[in-house]
Amino acid sequence: MQCQSEVAPRTGADIHTLEAVALAATRSAAVASYAWVGRHDQKAADAAATSAMRKALADAPGRGTVVIGEGEKDDAPMLFNGEIVGNGQGPDFDIAVDPLEGTSFCAKDLPGALATIAFGEPGTLWSPGPGFYMDKIVVPPGAKDVIDLSDPPERTLVKVAEALGKKVGELRVVIMDKPRHKELIARVLRAGAAVQTPAGGDVGGSLAVLLPTLDVDLLLGVGGTPEGVMTAAAVRALGGGMVGRLAPQRDEEADAIRAAGMSLDRIYNCDELVAGDAFFVATGVSGGPLVGRPRECDGTTIAESLLISRGQVRHITHTTFESFPG
Ligand code: FBP
Repeated sequence: MQCQSEVAPRTGADIHTLEAVALAATRSAAVASYAWVGRHDQKAADAAATSAMRKALADAPGRGTVVIGEGEKDDAPMLFNGEIVGNGQGPDFDIAVDPLEGTSFCAKDLPGALATIAFGEPGTLWSPGPGFYMDKIVVPPGAKDVIDLSDPPERTLVKVAEALGKKVGELRVVIMDKPRHKELIARVLRAGAAVQTPAGGDVGGSLAVLLPTLDVDLLLGVGGTPEGVMTAAAVRALGGGMVGRLAPQRDEEADAIRAAGMSLDRIYNCDELVAGDAFFVATGVSGGPLVGRPRECDGTTIAESLLISRGQVRHITHTTFESFPG
């Protein structure tokens, strides 16, 4: 006799009913980790953000699955892949999460640390398996149809410039300042584009590409897979373009990907990274051009978030009558 699965089938519903939950979760994580801004303790900052976010998600009306959490690659505190969150009373949903994106920015009190999460319909968020790193191109809507990771960067620049009605020399490209990007940065500069090189934070870099006010045209290079999936949720919600491919940085990572039956050559487009309706939320931790840091004012705590959903970017300021922890 065949065994019947005891797991109830997953039910889809309008995930946008969960936007307030997502905002509360990133806000809690941001305020908790703000206590660690400038304390030079990345683990404690990550742990504070993760624990606050886990607590906030426990009350979410529905049943959420963490498809992609954060932390395994650098052994940080994390929400685990496969972890179930929510109170079970409501829609099923998937999440990709990094409670503290830009941990070192938080620890060193530099701009750019964010508490981040993406919600997607059940079964729609790509799982990178044991892959921690991926190569990415992110562009605004006007260039979404011209990007291809198999192109050399010089060709990508020409195609993106043409699509955006610019010259290559007018493009501004974000590439994280990592040793692995030395040659890429040199080639992009030689091609004539300007290059912005933050020390990390490719979610923030991608958001800068998507938000017209920030004067950045594309993001190139290798970053984390959780960051990639969350970015894809924002890209998809705004009609931008993104392509990604697993890019292991160590032999063991490459071996684990192959052992899991995944290809190192396959290029995923945005609709494969996020294959359904999704939204993205970030709350500022250490401040920066996207969102300010939490602050206290007359006994209230103010935090700033971005909600990217259904073609819109909303900048939300939350005021709550509670003081900072610690
Ligand atoms: P965390 O703070 O969550 O560790 O991520 C920061 C970050 O810069 C990401 O934005 C980026 O995708 C990833 O790290 C790159 O990893 P690495 O620093 O190992 O190159």
